[in-house]
Amino acid sequence: MTLTPSAPSSLSDVDRARLLDVLDARSPGRPLPGAAYTDEALHRLDLELIWQRQWVFVGSVAEVREPGDYVTVELGTVSVLVLRDDDEQVAAFRNVCRHRGARLVEGPRGSVGNIVCGYHRWTYGTDGLLRHAPQLAAGTDTSCLGLRRVAVRVVGGLVFVCLAADPPRDVDAVAEVVEPYLTPHALDRTKVAAQVDLVEDGNWKLTMENNRECYHCEGHPDLLRTFFPTWGLEDHQVPPRLRAAHDRYLLAEADLALACDERGIPHRLVEDLVDRPLGFRIAREALDGLGESFSRDGSRLVRRLLGDLDEPRLGRVTFHAQPNVWVHALADHVVTFAALPLGADRTLVRTTWLVHEEAEEGVDYDVESLTEVWRHTNEEDAVFVGLTQRGVADPAYEPGPYTEPERQVDAFVTWYVDRMREEASR
Ligand code: FES
Ligand SMILES: [Fe+2]
Repeated sequence: MTLTPSAPSSLSDVDRARLLDVLDARSPGRPLPGAAYTDEALHRLDLELIWQRQWVFVGSVAEVREPGDYVTVELGTVSVLVLRDDDEQVAAFRNVCRHRGARLVEGPRGSVGNIVCGYHRWTYGTDGLLRHAPQLAAGTDTSCLGLRRVAVRVVGGLVFVCLAADPPRDVDAVAEVVEPYLTPHALDRTKVAAQVDLVEDGNWKLTMENNRECYHCEGHPDLLRTFFPTWGLEDHQVPPRLRAAHDRYLLAEADLALACDERGIPHRLVEDLVDRPLGFRIAREALDGLGESFSRDGSRLVRRLLGDLDEPRLGRVTFHAQPNVWVHALADHVVTFAALPLGADRTLVRTTWLVHEEAEEGVDYDVESLTEVWRHTNEEDAVFVGLTQRGVADPAYEPGPYTEPERQVDAFVTWYVDRMREEASR
């Protein structure tokens, strides 16, 4: 496979010194200094060192089910076209014409037979090869005028791309751990039931940090109907007021372990958040109430279960990977979340609900009920992220100490600092 050569690093000595100043100013156990969330030059370094060098989640196979189906993703000035090719493989290309550089495909999603540039009609196959270029001089070698490929990797139905010429290799090790958790949910036999784009007025790191703790979960009344508020806490960290909920959680976890063991489905926590480029965490965790889905009483929201699952009460696979994805896979549906930076202080959160490909809207599920909990939860989170962005931009901001429930936030920030240092030193 020919990959796009990495752009030569534009990191000047001034940029590097500024970045190291900010990273050095971060104390362990505390958030980053304000500039890390607000400074435009540092944001450009985030794009270059994280978003253009690490594996980034762009969607699931359900979004590109048929040959020609595509989605586009913008990472700063870079646009990536992800599509299902005619051999039914997921491929990714730079969304830039090889003639005079026009953006090839506009809009977030669609379907094409060939990829036709809107400017002078150069036409590429779904394999990226140049098929037709009107009036191009006879004898021109078109084999070197194909679209630039981008590395793509499908992990349990989740699609990741990496813009680097030599992508971090740990994606294989992560896939080996993660795929057995997701395989029972058969994402390759799902379809998109709904997708909602929400713009949070905050830096992408604040979006990810907010997602890594349930310290603020009392701000999510709908979610707390089924989500245990002691999420992420060790037994000894549970405060007295949450003890009853935690006891319910322990019982539900024991039931879940039995149901999984009977079916040979993995459920134990695997967490490797800091020490690898594709830091991740995965587990199957119980839900409160009836324990089946994110509904008001915990009952399922989709009548048709995913894959060959025979039991609705299987809690949720909770998967998180850095820099930009978290996923809940339940017996009846899957919700994926992609965080994508739009600017230093704006982040797109794209939420996608997947159901069995044969589930019928209006018969097996209702989109309003299916999406209710996470639509509300995302809107509540957007408020928290927006408030934080405004606060960290205030000169009065000083990073305060994390509490025990924020252990994963600390891990995310440490991962970020380590990655930035490592990439800046190349
Ligand atoms: S820029 Fe695409 S065909 Fe000319
Ligand atoms: Fe939240």
